[in-house]
Amino acid sequence: MDTNQLEQTLVLIKPDALKNSVTGFILSQLSEYHTGSRFAAAKIVNVNRMLAEEHYSEHKGKAFFEALLDYIMGKAHYPDDNKWKRRVIAIVYLGQNTQKNIRRIAGPTNPHEARDEQPGCLRALGTVVPVFDADGKIIDNRMDNLVHASASSEDAEREIKLWFVPHDIPPLMRAYPTEICQTHYYYKDAEVFETYEPDSSLILAPGDVAWETDLKILQQCIKNEPANGTLNSVVVKYLINKNVQD
Ligand code: GTP
Ligand code: MG
Repeated sequence: MDTNQLEQTLVLIKPDALKNSVTGFILSQLSEYHTGSRFAAAKIVNVNRMLAEEHYSEHKGKAFFEALLDYIMGKAHYPDDNKWKRRVIAIVYLGQNTQKNIRRIAGPTNPHEARDEQPGCLRALGTVVPVFDADGKIIDNRMDNLVHASASSEDAEREIKLWFVPHDIPPLMRAYPTEICQTHYYYKDAEVFETYEPDSSLILAPGDVAWETDLKILQQCIKNEPANGTLNSVVVKYLINKNVQD
């Protein structure tokens, strides 16, 4: 089959699923037998704040935003004495109608609604917990819904390019154009440089295969031109699992 006709989707198995040991069940429900979709990539990620903020950027400013970041970063389920357990399993699936199929198996966002409307779906196993302010007043709630699954092709492209570098995905399974990088790119304090700055991180080197859209954004940032996306959305995938997170 022509893989160009297949869709990709990003699935995140969130920290509550790891803590409650339902990872095997989730992977089984999302197996090729049930979804017709195949693994294209997978990794264990200790989610840093930059990645959490980029992934959930559409919710920035909402009352539940900080609680949502704490959740995906693993802080909500693993307090400071268990920092090392803060992980998400990030998976790319490739298949026909994979976004719709996997969203159906995941079920409604709110686990209470999931139990009412679609018993048996993955999120029916989740929970909703109150979020308190410093004075102990309930300000919102947190939906611990075990999995994330991309909602559309646009979301899938943005999210897969946020969590994965091209080399994480076998070349024949890559859905988005790549380009060979021609220069060095270093990152430090929300800025990108083509020559090494003390304490900067090397993001890309000549010969590296990168997402075409990322290289465009990096060039726009270097030239101080308006960019097609944020610098953080480009560099964040190269910083995954590089440092110990707070
Ligand atoms: P994801 O697959 O995690 O992206 O869920 P979704 O696509 O079903 O929902 P959406 O992208 O709108 O929201 C992302 C996450 O933010 C959800 O999984 C919830 O944990 C949280 N969230 C979304 N809307 C609300 C809300 O109205 N209240 C609260 N408390 N949390 C919300
Ligand atoms: Mg969503």
